[in-house]
Parts: sequence; C-alpha cells; structure tokens
Amino acid sequence: MNQELIIVLDFGGQYNQLIARRVRECNVYAEVKPYTMALEEIEKLNPKGIIFTGGPNSVYDETSPHYDKKIFELGIPILGICYGSQLMAYTLGGEVKTAPVSEYGHTEITLDKSSALFSGVEEKTSVWMSHTDYIANAPTGFKITAHSSVCPVAAMEDASRKLYATQFHPEVMHTERGKEMISNFVYKVCGCKGDWTMDSFVETKIREIRETVGNGKVLCALSGGVDSSVAAVLMSKAVGKNLTCVFVDHGLLRKNEGDEVEAVFGEGGSYELNFIRVNAQERFYEKLAGVTEPEKKRKIIGEEFIRVFEEEAKKIGAVDFLVQGTIYPDVIESGLGKSAVIKSHHNVGGLPDCVDFKEIIEPLRMLFKDEVRKAGLELGLPEYLVNRQPFPGPGLGVRIVGEVTAEKVRIVQDADYIFRKELEKAGLTKGLGQYFAALSNMRSVGVMGDFRTYDYAVVLRSVNTSDFMTAECSNIPFEVLQICMNRIINEVKGVNRVMFDLTSKPPGTIELE
Ligand code: XMP
Repeated sequence: MNQELIIVLDFGGQYNQLIARRVRECNVYAEVKPYTMALEEIEKLNPKGIIFTGGPNSVYDETSPHYDKKIFELGIPILGICYGSQLMAYTLGGEVKTAPVSEYGHTEITLDKSSALFSGVEEKTSVWMSHTDYIANAPTGFKITAHSSVCPVAAMEDASRKLYATQFHPEVMHTERGKEMISNFVYKVCGCKGDWTMDSFVETKIREIRETVGNGKVLCALSGGVDSSVAAVLMSKAVGKNLTCVFVDHGLLRKNEGDEVEAVFGEGGSYELNFIRVNAQERFYEKLAGVTEPEKKRKIIGEEFIRVFEEEAKKIGAVDFLVQGTIYPDVIESGLGKSAVIKSHHNVGGLPDCVDFKEIIEPLRMLFKDEVRKAGLELGLPEYLVNRQPFPGPGLGVRIVGEVTAEKVRIVQDADYIFRKELEKAGLTKGLGQYFAALSNMRSVGVMGDFRTYDYAVVLRSVNTSDFMTAECSNIPFEVLQICMNRIINEVKGVNRVMFDLTSKPPGTIELE
C-alpha cells in the first residue's frame, strides 16, 4: 500500500501500541518498529514522521537503547516522548539528569501556544508525567515550549529541523489535550493528509487479496469471533466461492452462538462462500469427561479442535491458502519478543501445520482490534457480531470449573444469557470490558418451595479493562445483580446459588480457568 506512514520507534515503552493507535485515530497509518531497525531501512520506508516512544532506561547509561544521530539529519519530523525526548536532548548535546523531584501522574504544565504542536491548546493544561530523569538543558537550537513547576523542559522543539519533544505522554487519556497534540504533530508538523480510513483499507485489501490468490482455493477456520469473522468476510468479498470456511461447533459456545454464526455465514446468509458447520459437541464432551485440571482441559480442547479441522480439510483436499485472523497486537508482541504464559492460549489463529496448503494469508495483520471492528462494519457484518466482547478459544470449557459435562454447559449457557440480557437491559454494557457467567464446581444446600435442593453455584463476573492484562471488577448496581440472581435461580434448572466475583486481575485472571 502506498500511503502515508508514521513510524513509532519503540524504545521499550509500555505505551508503544497506544501511540500507534492514537496516530491511526487521526486517520494516519502508523507502525511500531523496534529501535534496532537500521536507519537505511527507516529511510526506505519513507515515513512522513517518526515518534520515539518512552522507555524504562536512562539515556546516560551506556547499555540503554540509543539511535544513530543521523536520524535527526534526515529532514523527517521527529517527536520524542518521555525517554524519546531525553534521547533527542542527549544525542543532540543537551543535558539529561536524574530529576530532583520525579513526577508521576497528573501534572499541570504551562505551554507556549505558538508551537505547532500545541496549536489550539490552552496555555495551562493537565498532562500525564511518569519520569525520574529529566532534560536539565535543551540542546543548542532548541526552544523550551512547556514547563511544569518542577520540570524545566516539559517540551522543547527546533521547528527549523522539525524536531519536537515532550517529557509527558500525549498518547494517554490522562493528558487532557493529548489527542490534539498528536494530531498537530501528524498534520501540522509532518504535513499528513490523512489517508488511513477503513473503506480505503477494505478496498485496497480486497484488490491485494485478488492479486495474491488469483483463482486459488482458500480455507478459513471460522470461530464466530470478531477477528475470524471479519477475515472471512473480507476473503469472501475478494474470492467468493473459492473460499471455504470451516466452523467447528465444539459445544462450548455461548447460547445460540452456533446458530447465529450459521445464520450469517451459512446457506441463505449474506455472503458468497462455502460454509461447513461441524457439530462436534459430543466428541469434545467425550474427550473432556472426567478431566478437571484446567491446563489439561485447554490442551484437549485445542488439540481436538485441530483434529476436527484437519479432518474437514482433508475432505476438501489440498488448498492453496490458509487464512488466519492474526491482528496487529499479536504481530507487535511476537516481533518484540514479549510473551506471557499464565495460560496456554488457544485460538483459531494458531492453526495447524497439518493441513496441506501453500501459503498463509493474514488479511488483518496490520489492524488493531477497534480497526478490525470498523472494517467489519464497513464490510456489512451485523453490529452484534462485530461488537462482541472477547470470547476465549476454549469457550465455556474455561468457564466451567472442573469437569465439563453437557448438563453444566447448558446451565452456564442459560445463566450467561440471562446475565448478559439483564446488563443490556439496564444499559450497562458499554463501559464493561467483559461480562459473563461461569459455573463453580461447588454444590450446596438450599430450599426451593418446600423442598431441599443440592445444586450448583453460578459465578457472575464482570470486569473493566482496556488491555485485558489487568482488570478490575465492574461496579454493577446491586439491584441489577439481584434481578439476575432471581432470574437465574428461577429459570435455570440445577442452580440454587449465585455469586458475584469481586476479584481484580491480578491476582485473579479474567476467566476462571
Ligand atoms: P485471562 O483469563 O488470562 O484472560 O485473564 C485474558 C483475556 O484473554 C481471553 N482468553 C483467551 N482468548 N484463547 C483466546 O483467544 C484462549 O485460550 C483464552 N484464554 C483467555 C479472555 O477471555 C480475556 O479476554
């Protein structure tokens, strides 16, 4: 794609993805690259601008990441943020020291309104600081454009060389006018026009896919989740009936979910493709019978999924391309070598070596989740499908503590359905990261009518999170919880207790297993 590009050069900051997202929200395409990328490679990409991220190091420490000084001589606009600002100052002859007072959190700065970076922003504004070092003296040629009560150089610039730097983080929400500052950088400093929109992405991608695939046969594992659904629709628009989607119903989906996916993608649905639904419920329940250990359950579900998919693929015969729903955060994280292994994650993105295909296509690999959703809407996918909350690959298998049985799946599906519907009815779902019902393996004594019961306890869980790495329990009004409790106990056979999970992540995880 021949479009405007901003490179986010990553120096180990925790907000690297966020910076790229903010730029893209301004309709300008941004990619995160490691600071080890060679200068010549950066030049080849011909970016409209470069943003240096923050990072945990001190620039005066020799082992910290640095960059070739020549980058400042390319004439490409650069914005340094936090560590990036210190790196700019240090490399160009300014002075960086440990600050006498570290700043962390909301800070009021006074800024120079005549700076292009601060165009339209008031003189006094609140920003987000997080630093122990600071720029004590700006390099020659730089003008100080903002300060706080304890930070003499909260921002500096050399407009003639198009070099800009902020000690604070314009990319985080807590910086009141951060969005405008990023937008000023890309439009007023870099001179971007803003050609990154989802309709142009969809259009270009379809063209590219057609060029790559020609008349080849394409296979896609469809889970019904947002990423694989959008990938499937994009492929179907590009290659039509040359695409076959295999949807494995492992019997661990939410209530009605299998039918909903079939209604959209199957015969009589809205898209031209070959849709195969494999009803493999019994097969999964059999494999899971008697298994209680969470990791073992995850492995069984993951493996069985691949076996089923493989069998279907064999029936179809050799294909030329296999589609995967990989998205940009996966690419960045694997590229930069980060990983977390609390649970062995399974999703259809991680599919097999065992299918005979020539090439993998990842049509969404450069998109963030919110962009995938926008592309989905652009492609005409129904909103309820596009705006679905995340659902783990092993499905309800990790929401049923202990052994999975068909009976327990029915209980958790029904309870979950009631919980979701009641939250929707109460208008609460918008700000919630993930909300669902799970089933504990606890049975306890209760009384219903005049009878003793000995039934299961449902656990309701709702968390607020932006990145799913940390989460806090949502504040659901007590009255709503009580309605859910009443309905679940009255309507779902086999349940006589309902609990609400208050645990944050950490120490808990979002899913129960
Ligand atoms: P945890 O439970 O680790 O979940 O706090 C974090 C996020 O990841 C989702 N999750 C998964 N997603 N395959 C997936 O595709 C998996 O195996 C899996 N396990 C958890 C979970 O729903 C939450 O959004």
